[in-house]
Amino acid sequence: MEIIVTKSYTESCKRAAKMIVAVVNEKKNAKLGLATGSTAVAAYEELKRIYKNGDVDFSDVKTVNLDEYCGLSGEHEQSYRYFMNEKFFNHVNIDKANTFVANGLGNFEENAKELDKMVYDGGTIDLQLLGIGRNGHIAFNEPGESLISCAHVENLTQSTIDANSRFFSTIDEVPTKAITMGLGNIMSAKQIIVIASGAEKADAIKGLVNGNEITTQNPSTMLKMHSNVTLIVDEELAALVGV
Ligand code: F6R
Repeated sequence: MEIIVTKSYTESCKRAAKMIVAVVNEKKNAKLGLATGSTAVAAYEELKRIYKNGDVDFSDVKTVNLDEYCGLSGEHEQSYRYFMNEKFFNHVNIDKANTFVANGLGNFEENAKELDKMVYDGGTIDLQLLGIGRNGHIAFNEPGESLISCAHVENLTQSTIDANSRFFSTIDEVPTKAITMGLGNIMSAKQIIVIASGAEKADAIKGLVNGNEITTQNPSTMLKMHSNVTLIVDEELAALVGV
């Protein structure tokens, strides 16, 4: 795993955006695996900036998102479809028909099957962007006795529900389930970039960078088995985890 240490969270996102642009400039119809969450926001900001400068063309790019909350429609302001449209898709020349975010309504199991199909549809994901949960989750694969390879419906842990509650007016509105890519889906990507920032991510990142242990109690440790992972952290977090 390559580890890049930057001056700040914004710098980390700039580095990630640069790597995404390199993939798209190399392959016009690249397939990108995308993440939502606070960490990804500045990466999309930077991608929008590069696009406005005329230095990248998304017209043939295909995307598939890691996850979506169960019970929220794509019009709901906290849904991940809404996030992607607002933070990225609406501002670049991507064809929305080429973007896939799992449907958060209807039959969740069927929607998860559709996500699983879309991960492989038309070829492998060229680059997967990841954030990381404070408990080490990637996508919404939560720590536990076992992990699941294919896309599935996941019960969110209390730690994740608490972390996500900052976006909802009451804790009762926070979805308790999500449709998520599984570990096999994520590991199938040719290249993976993880951005992490903030002291609350230190324990998870320690597990990822220190030693060789792979454990279902920290799903991000599975990434140690992938041959092309870049972890981008800022100096502050790097100091906390000792890299
Ligand atoms: C989002 C996702 C999650 C987030 C993680 C970190 O699509 O799959 O794994 O990356 O929960 O979220 P933030 O960036 O909000 O700390």
